[in-house]
Amino acid sequence: MVTAVAQRLLSQRKQVDDTLAHFSLNRDQLRVVRDKMRVELERGLRKDSHSSASVKMLPAFVFQTPDGTERGKYLALDLGGTNFRVLVVKIRSGIRKSVRMYNKIYAIPHEIMQGTGEELFDHIVHCISDFLDYMGMKNTRLPLGFTFSFPCRQTGIDKGSLVSWTKGFKATDCEDHDVVDMLRDAIKRRNEFDLDIVAVVNDTVGTMMTCAYEDSKCEIGLIAGTGSNVCYMEDMRNIETVEGDEGQMCVNTEWGGFGENGCIEDIRTKFDREVDEGSLNSGKQRFEKMTSGMYLGEIVRQILIDLTKRGLLFRGRITEPLKTRGIFETKFLSQIERFISTYTLIIALMHLQSLGSTCDDSIIVKEVCGAVSHRAAQLCGAGMAAIVEKIRENRGLEHLEITVGVDGTLYKLHPHFSRVLKDTVRDLAPKCTVSFVLSEDGSGKGAALITAVARRYCGGAQQQYLYSMRFSDETLLEIMSRFRRELEKGLSQDTNPTATVKMLPTFVRSIPDGTEKGDFIALDLGGSNFRILRVKVSHEKKQTVQMETEIYDTPEDIIHGSGTRLFDHVAECLGDFMEKHKIKDKKLPVGFTFSFPCAQTKLDEGILLTWTKRFKASGVEGMDVVKLLNKAIKKRGVRFTDIMAVVNDTVGTMMTCGFDDHRCEVGIIIGTGTNACYMEEMRHIELVEGDEGRMCINTEWGAFGDDGMLEDIRTDFDRDIDRGSLNPGKQLFEKMVSGMYMGELVRLILVKMAREGLLFEGRITPELLTKGKFETKHISAIEKSKEGLSKAKEILARLGVEPSADDCIAVQHVCAIVSFRSASLVAATLAAILTRLKDNKHVPRLKTTVGIDGSLYKMHPQYARRLHKTVRRLVPECDVRFLLSESGSGKGAAMVTAWAYRLADQTRSQTFNSGMSSVTPI
Ligand code: G6P
Ligand code: G6P
Ligand code: BGC
Ligand code: BGC
Repeated sequence: MVTAVAQRLLSQRKQVDDTLAHFSLNRDQLRVVRDKMRVELERGLRKDSHSSASVKMLPAFVFQTPDGTERGKYLALDLGGTNFRVLVVKIRSGIRKSVRMYNKIYAIPHEIMQGTGEELFDHIVHCISDFLDYMGMKNTRLPLGFTFSFPCRQTGIDKGSLVSWTKGFKATDCEDHDVVDMLRDAIKRRNEFDLDIVAVVNDTVGTMMTCAYEDSKCEIGLIAGTGSNVCYMEDMRNIETVEGDEGQMCVNTEWGGFGENGCIEDIRTKFDREVDEGSLNSGKQRFEKMTSGMYLGEIVRQILIDLTKRGLLFRGRITEPLKTRGIFETKFLSQIERFISTYTLIIALMHLQSLGSTCDDSIIVKEVCGAVSHRAAQLCGAGMAAIVEKIRENRGLEHLEITVGVDGTLYKLHPHFSRVLKDTVRDLAPKCTVSFVLSEDGSGKGAALITAVARRYCGGAQQQYLYSMRFSDETLLEIMSRFRRELEKGLSQDTNPTATVKMLPTFVRSIPDGTEKGDFIALDLGGSNFRILRVKVSHEKKQTVQMETEIYDTPEDIIHGSGTRLFDHVAECLGDFMEKHKIKDKKLPVGFTFSFPCAQTKLDEGILLTWTKRFKASGVEGMDVVKLLNKAIKKRGVRFTDIMAVVNDTVGTMMTCGFDDHRCEVGIIIGTGTNACYMEEMRHIELVEGDEGRMCINTEWGAFGDDGMLEDIRTDFDRDIDRGSLNPGKQLFEKMVSGMYMGELVRLILVKMAREGLLFEGRITPELLTKGKFETKHISAIEKSKEGLSKAKEILARLGVEPSADDCIAVQHVCAIVSFRSASLVAATLAAILTRLKDNKHVPRLKTTVGIDGSLYKMHPQYARRLHKTVRRLVPECDVRFLLSESGSGKGAAMVTAWAYRLADQTRSQTFNSGMSSVTPI
């Protein structure tokens, strides 16, 4: 008899143990979870895998944690956890640094959570209205931070469209809609008060910010509550779904979705599947359903039902309460696990659940709860280990010390959850020391801090005007296709007269082929320096180039005076050069790099269409610059062979780079001005006769937009720059992009920000108001990653302002936005040229080299990388090598001259033989 009872008990015990064994994860299994989480984190960050990643890694548009200088009075909403709160948060900075909060909790009835979107947002606004009445604040238009604890795809700090509802919410017509717009609309519908909605914030981000206000090491936010989620500060360079490489941005991982692609099926149990099937979002948030408060009770209930059905519990009787979904709240789980004495536990169970349990039953129930919550804590720990390891690797550290700000009822109320979580992280991420700090004040405080920062940098400044300087890839692709159409318009004979992008034939028909040789003079006029060079190309075994260079001044009064004086000056410098280099008596062929738009009908003719950049000498537009230069040289009595070729700097650059890389078929300049040339098929160049082979086209892309084509992306600053320029209405693309204008753009923005009190405490100095005082080279200095901020301080001090640390950060931010816009625009137009080349060649992938020159590209610390990255993103079907021209356009011009000279020589001998005369272009 005794044996039978014992056996029955033993068998019962074994069956319970076997059931719960599925919840016990060993170290190896947890390591696998950690590693899979890491894979999904990376997939979520990468552009190509983002859409299929189960961990969405949503950019939060929060660029830094608080630094204690935040201040002001804010309204905050906190929706999505157990409670819906409306708060006023008053933040003081300085020695009286403090945060005071007043809040009221409101209920969100079940039928509203799952009603229509309009009802939900009307209800929220009703609660705000009540709160404002209660606080006597109806008439103050406060800035609002909105903690919205659901996955949102953000495109800015105040824009976020709901990806999908989670937890207990399921209101209709909200998914894929912007929650800020929905809130604004509801405020309008009520028409009682107005609010300035500045930021929408996930609760993890709010929690991280709340904790970071006290502890600057806090760079991770964890919620273990109704839902489960983590955010952390990621390096911008790793977030491929957002433009920009500099600094950091908070990423809301939405790790609750982990496993949606089936990658953790091996550890999910049948109980997890039952909970999932009975949920509002079946198939979704699989990790969340194993780890968060909303579901742990449900898992326990499913196990209890199973054990009861098998006669192992409650004498096999399934009571009504046990059948009720949601009855087993997570707080019961916490309570049950906290009860030590079986007696109190039975009482509690009977009381809470009317489950009619016995002593054995209550022990089993406690074990079930323990198994479920223990697994939840371990899984969160494994996920956290993946995050901290990623941060450690990002920073290249042997050891990382970091703080996690945590909130959520599960973490706060459960007796063992936090300990198991910490133990697991310690075990699985041994190279990281991770401290967990409980957020005492909820996410509302963090949302207010974010609002304070956003209003300072974004709400005021970036929001209104800087924001429109950041382009999405969609916009860039649109600009790319507009430019592609412009290219085609310029190439066709019918439409060329009205095209802004002139697509000028250059009569250069191939890149250097290695046979060029000779002794040449190259003039190089139009960039930041006027150079004269002697270029010797020799051929002993290997082609080698020797160059001697002099730089000459081009004073303002000369470039703005008469054309005759300008060319006299050039001729004078040439005479000086020949004297200095003792070649006065040599008749060397001359190549003339002239970096302005010229119409050519042959290599040695260039009719200046219009001056650009700093030049404005009279009587030159419409004239052949070769003739003008010849005349000036003759006047000076310098002995020389004819000017053999006039070459745009882009063409010179392409030829210089083509000398080293035969694939080079594009030349671009990003310097004082900007422009590009590329090798086009003759059959498409309607302005030149002949269909065979290719010819280099000088696009003159600087004029893109002169017909209003770019008005939707130009800002008021661009219009100001244009009005104050030497050539208003012209070169509008160049004025958004090139070095001659970028410094001035930044200066105009800084003046506006200072006027609005967003910078320098509103102080504006005469230097700051002086045109040209902020140069493009200053942008390059300020954007240096290490000494950038101290450079900003130095440069701003020279402008007479005493910048605070915040001012320096804001100025650095402005510089980055302006220079980033430039790189993005050039990437778009260059991408259009690349697709054109690819289509011309009818190849599925284009492999090509782009030769580049120009001071902006060369000097700016981040420009090149940003440009390359953006081009690769816009045209993934092109493998592009970017080759910096080390020796300027002069070398390339000499290559062209060598060709021209050789052909002219041949023609001369033919002419001699046949009596014909003309210089055949190469
Ligand atoms: C925070 C917030 C909530 C958030 C919650 C998570 O403090 O202010 O908005 O969603 O914690 O906890 P819960 O357990 O309520 O889901
Ligand atoms: C090249 C040239 C210049 C050209 C310049 C553009 O190397 O040799 O003549 O115009 O680069 O750069 P910059 O920044 O000087 O305008
Ligand atoms: C949501 C997250 C949120 C988490 C914690 C999840 O269901 O998707 O956005 O952070 O719950 O509240
Ligand atoms: C000129 C181009 C030149 C570019 C770069 C532009 O202003 O119009 O001809 O290539 O500057 O120097």
